[in-house]
Amino acid sequence: MQYSIKNYYKALKFLGRNAEFTPLDLMLLLQYKSGLPKEKLITENYGFQLSLFKYLFYLLDLLFLRFSFPIHYIIRKKEFYSHEFFIEKGILIPRPDSETLVEAVIEKIKILVSRGETEVSVAEIGTGSGALILSVMKYFNDLNFPVKFKFYGVDRSEIALRTTKKNYFYLFQNPGNHNGLKKYRSVKSTMKRPDKENNFLFILFRSDLLNCFLSKKRNKKPYFSNGVKGDNCSGNAEGKPGFDLIFSNPFYISPRDFKKCERKIRWYEPKKALIAKKNGDYFYLKILGQSFDMLRHGGYLIFETGDDAQACRVEQYMKEKSFGIEKIKDLTGISRVVAGRKR
Ligand SMILES: C[S@@+](CC[C@H](N)C(=O)[O-])C[C@H]1O[C@@H](n2cnc3c(N)ncnc32)[C@H](O)[C@@H]1O
Repeated sequence: MQYSIKNYYKALKFLGRNAEFTPLDLMLLLQYKSGLPKEKLITENYGFQLSLFKYLFYLLDLLFLRFSFPIHYIIRKKEFYSHEFFIEKGILIPRPDSETLVEAVIEKIKILVSRGETEVSVAEIGTGSGALILSVMKYFNDLNFPVKFKFYGVDRSEIALRTTKKNYFYLFQNPGNHNGLKKYRSVKSTMKRPDKENNFLFILFRSDLLNCFLSKKRNKKPYFSNGVKGDNCSGNAEGKPGFDLIFSNPFYISPRDFKKCERKIRWYEPKKALIAKKNGDYFYLKILGQSFDMLRHGGYLIFETGDDAQACRVEQYMKEKSFGIEKIKDLTGISRVVAGRKR
């Protein structure tokens, strides 16, 4: 027996006024359930048929939306920097704000390349879904720069590393065409290591910040490596690892501000990926303390920040370490990125 869905507006009403969803969330759900593109859904007046089983799941998902469950955890994907990324509960949903950070990282890598570097090593602390580091990798992979790139991602969370690995395969093997977990299962058996990006070493480590690169743990086995030849991290004169660029979108919400966040953030997103002590600045200070020695001279340390006040504080911390600073605003005019160049 088939059940017809033609109740976009009824569903909107059902979800009620206080629910934290947008009409776009419902549209995304309908697209996911029907497998139809948005334009087709509109011309068909949102009408499509579902089996009883799928219809019951549709009603259940409406209930989830009603109780502020984020739509991206239901449809298991999120668009970021024009690519689709697999998302699951336990992973921070990548925010459009972070595209400013991706742009800044790309721009600084271009500067490094224009200075004549033939090998560029980049590390992201806290990869989450991998949306940021993979967007940067994809950009340079498509440009085919004659440079050897080494990308390193670290995260403390196993689920984050697993998701980053999945998204690596999506992006380089099955670009722009996955349907959440279902599609992942169907491509998993045929996964090969992408061979196009020969110049791209990509290694993931499960690690507390950059500890995996410190001398004693230097030979720690990676969580994932794409098999391209290269060392785990080339060292500088003192035998410490030397990166050209380190970037991070650390968790930067203070416990007080967290209480003011929407329910869908407070109830369902991983607190460990969001809340930080010391007015939200705890991890900036930790990363700054650790990564200074790991950056080559002329290299960059780039952070995403929450607002203008935090950007000013981070600027101050970096100036104390003698970084040359640049602050970059997002499209809404908020200082979203602080980039420091090690002199
Ligand atoms: C704010 S999220 C950023 C995720 C992703 N980069 C993004 O922008 O969507 C912070 C990430 O840092 C990770 N993390 C938290 N503490 C960490 C630590 N001590 N060392 C490494 N990663 C950590 C969390 O698991 C989380 O994935």
